Amino acid sequence: MLLLGIETSCDDTAAAVVRDGRDVLASVSTAQDAFHAKYGGIVPEIASRRHTALLSAAIEHAAALAQTPLDAIDAIAVTRGPGLIGSLVVGVASAKALAFALGKPLYGVNHLHGHIFAAFLDRPEAPCYPMLALLVSGGHSQLVRVESPTSLEILGRTRDDAAGEAYDKTARLLGLPYPGGPELDKLAQQGDANKHTFPRHRPDPESLDLSFSGLKTSVRYFLESPAGKAVKREDVAASFQAAVVDVLMARVESALAQREYACAVLSGGVAANSALQRAFRSWASRKRIDAFIPPPKYCTDNAAMIAAAAYYQGDAVRADPLTLDADPNLPFTLNEQEALPAQARHR
Ligand code: KG4
Ligand code: ZN
Repeated sequence: MLLLGIETSCDDTAAAVVRDGRDVLASVSTAQDAFHAKYGGIVPEIASRRHTALLSAAIEHAAALAQTPLDAIDAIAVTRGPGLIGSLVVGVASAKALAFALGKPLYGVNHLHGHIFAAFLDRPEAPCYPMLALLVSGGHSQLVRVESPTSLEILGRTRDDAAGEAYDKTARLLGLPYPGGPELDKLAQQGDANKHTFPRHRPDPESLDLSFSGLKTSVRYFLESPAGKAVKREDVAASFQAAVVDVLMARVESALAQREYACAVLSGGVAANSALQRAFRSWASRKRIDAFIPPPKYCTDNAAMIAAAAYYQGDAVRADPLTLDADPNLPFTLNEQEALPAQARHR
């Protein structure tokens, strides 16, 4: 089954052609960092305008790279939410028009489900269930139990900042350019992670929820204090990173202690982080659990992961090319989506 994937939920304009949810024939992504960098964060209006300018070319480029004319595609998968409404609308409107014009089935995918199935792109193994997924990106941080492709349960989520947001904000405090996560990662590799101790906050010991805003604030106070003036930025970066990794891995440990899992996935933009990858792999090998981490190009937003999720979720995410709506607050579980009356869902 050949799927065209379309992803425009945030600031990456992406299209991909994927066979059977796994073989990526083409994956095209145009980052817009240069347009947002001077504002220090994503400007939603700029993001949607760039999507409008770039998406048709991205789709044509993906089809050309895959040597697949669009009418040879079996179906179209698009990110329906969550994300920025203006950005989502561009992808959803294009996907509906293409599906209608070509007479192909359409699938409306949850962006976060896409991140989870990204771990099984371009590799021989199929997804394994029940799966424990740690999903850490610029907009989300959550721990998920995946019982089957269509049965997913959030075990814990951040109560304030997402992990990527904490990285980006802390990077800014350290004077690093936007987007700061990868820059902070590089800087931390030259620093001493034991030099400073930043808090490992657990908002509620009874739950698997996360919190990062206290950590970011404590780095800020430290940098503003007299002691903070003379420090090496590399050491602060490494010590901050060690705290993030400890907090995330503590939740993963707790989740595995509570229930059994067949495999574990680390995904989302922050999954590209070198220290987190090391900690996750070493935990998995200690616990003798199979670990899957996408390569960096599939950790950050891409359209191949959207095609993969649609392939595995099938009819459960099948949509009508005339009525599918973008939903910036799309619920996480497919049941919640179904449980909502149509008017409430399409508000
Ligand atoms: O998944 P993603 O591309 O977009 C969202 O859906 O949010 O994630 C982007 C986030 C940004 O916050 C970025 O700074 C972070 O992932 N990120 C990293 C690294 N690479 C990307 N954070 C830490 N270390 C990295 N190597
Ligand atoms: Zn994402």
